[in-house]
Amino acid sequence: MTTAAKTRSRAAGRSSAGQASEADASRRAFADGARFYLQQTPRQLPSRFLYDALGSALFDAICHLPWYRITRGERRLLVRHAREIGRALGAGGRVVELGCGNGEKLATLLTHAGVRHPRAHLIDLSGSALQHAARALEGLDVRVTTHHGTYDEGLLALPPEPAHPTLLAFLGSNIGNFDPPGASALLGVMRGALRPGDALLLGADLVKPERDLLLAYADPLGLTAAFNKNLLVRLNTELGADFGLDGFTHRAVWNRKASRVEMHLVSRRTQAVAVPGAGLRFTLAAGETIWTESSYKYQPEDIRRLAEAGAFVQRKQWIDDEARFALTLFEAS
Ligand SMILES: C[S@@+](CC[C@H](N)C(=O)[O-])C[C@H]1O[C@@H](n2cnc3c(N)ncnc32)[C@H](O)[C@@H]1O
Repeated sequence: MTTAAKTRSRAAGRSSAGQASEADASRRAFADGARFYLQQTPRQLPSRFLYDALGSALFDAICHLPWYRITRGERRLLVRHAREIGRALGAGGRVVELGCGNGEKLATLLTHAGVRHPRAHLIDLSGSALQHAARALEGLDVRVTTHHGTYDEGLLALPPEPAHPTLLAFLGSNIGNFDPPGASALLGVMRGALRPGDALLLGADLVKPERDLLLAYADPLGLTAAFNKNLLVRLNTELGADFGLDGFTHRAVWNRKASRVEMHLVSRRTQAVAVPGAGLRFTLAAGETIWTESSYKYQPEDIRRLAEAGAFVQRKQWIDDEARFALTLFEAS
């Protein structure tokens, strides 16, 4: 396993100057995002900001919760259908994973796919997730390149691949963090990075009873609440904000009409807050929320329609009934 050049820097052996400029770029992006989104109505912050090192670790812990079934359901499907998915990759082929997190799902897929000498490109904006992912793939017959950046940045930085097929993996229902126009736009960028005949493996969570959805996003142990409130910790530590954590409550709601679970941070009282690093100062009313994540839930045919509108053709769809989760294999047309 080797780790090669990254979109913004190298995963291993980074100089301290490189690490500092990477941290500066990440803080600038966070400040720009906070300035823009916290002034919207309703106030919001994009879910990509949930994933600093602590956020990534909290997400990994959430995957072990009995109420968060996505990870186990998707892993079952990956194991069961790895050989067939592997055929889309072929010997020496390239797998590109967007938002790889800790890399365990890709390690599971490659362990069971029986593909010789694949190459893997991992794209994630969490540096700590990339480090874990590179480690998860150590010892497997795979050459790893990590790209530290957003999905779009990583896809645009991919080198052309004229000789071998590419399998693009977007797992964990990360697609559900985008509203329908955003998901279509991202699928367009994905399609632009592929050649006809290449493959897309899309994991997407399905609509299920409201009680199950809410338990997954407002778990009785309070891990998802900690994951959500960590955004306030990030605002405090990185942008010098003065959010008091006891002034906010985690809330998950099922928006049936939009078919999405929303996560919010609810202000428990009227309070003035300052975010000096983003040049912001505002007052939150009691009960006012900051909307921090959307997780769209799909019917199986929604997934096909979404990708087929973006020049993909569905080849296979597998559903895990226990978790109500779908893994769909598409071909770029
Ligand atoms: C919900 S976790 C899923 C991780 C893994 N795919 C899984 O299924 O377990 C989302 C991952 O995507 C990354 N991520 C979220 N938004 C992103 C974006 N816009 N660009 C790049 N990475 C992003 C996060 O850092 C995190 O590692």
